[in-house]
Amino acid sequence: MNFEKLKNDPRLPQHIAFIIDGNGRWAKHRGLPRSLGHKAGFDNLKKHTEYVEQLGIKNLSLYCFSKENWNRPKDEVEYLMTLFDQMLDEYKRDYLNKDVRIIISGDMEDERLPESVRKKAKELMELTKDKTGFIINPCINYGGRQEIVKAVNELLQEGKKQVDATEFEKHLYTKDLLPLDFIIRTSGELRTSNFLPWQSTYSEWYFPKTLWPSFSKKDLVRALIAYMKRNRRFGAIKG
Ligand code: IPE
Ligand code: IPE
Ligand code: MG
Repeated sequence: MNFEKLKNDPRLPQHIAFIIDGNGRWAKHRGLPRSLGHKAGFDNLKKHTEYVEQLGIKNLSLYCFSKENWNRPKDEVEYLMTLFDQMLDEYKRDYLNKDVRIIISGDMEDERLPESVRKKAKELMELTKDKTGFIINPCINYGGRQEIVKAVNELLQEGKKQVDATEFEKHLYTKDLLPLDFIIRTSGELRTSNFLPWQSTYSEWYFPKTLWPSFSKKDLVRALIAYMKRNRRFGAIKG
């Protein structure tokens, strides 16, 4: 099975996510500063966004910056912010005249984020909110626990005393996305790091050892083939 043959295969996930881990180690192995690892990682993210769109997968979530990533050195955080700023400009340039919706999951009210990132993120979400095609969901300043607490607080503000899961989900950043089928976390780390906990309860996980900047088109094909072989039971008895 190659990339071309996989296109629009009904067994593909409808919603896939990348936890783009290993940028720092990729740079370290090459004697480079961590910032160059992030640069290579974001260049690779662009390629994989195209691959996923070309395959006909409907939704793509990307873990770009966690709430906990503020604990990193100031210069690394600042560099990452310049990359997000650039990424948002490129989204605007590349997707505004296409049927692509951008949803940014994460706390865009946080004043630690550069004003330009907050402004561009909100603007892109607004400009693309009526698009019905491919959805890209970069998670920036995202924390799963924080998202759940935010939802609870919004419901309390509305005066709700009791809600069901369907109503609860309407308060998540991901309310307009399809169920999260498949999550790829590169670099060999076997943890979720606060990524989409509510949404991933029945996701299939895949943990390649490859560091994110080296994760190739072939690696993506390999991962998708592995996904297609999984038997998703959702608590029932199948196959
Ligand atoms: C992931 O790569 C990118 C972000 C957190 C933005 P890392 O920076 O975590 O790379 P490692 O894990 O240190 O190698
Ligand atoms: C998870 O990677 C966050 C992102 C990829 C944005 P980390 O490198 O921050 O996760 P930990 O610290 O290893 O759990
Ligand atoms: Mg890491």
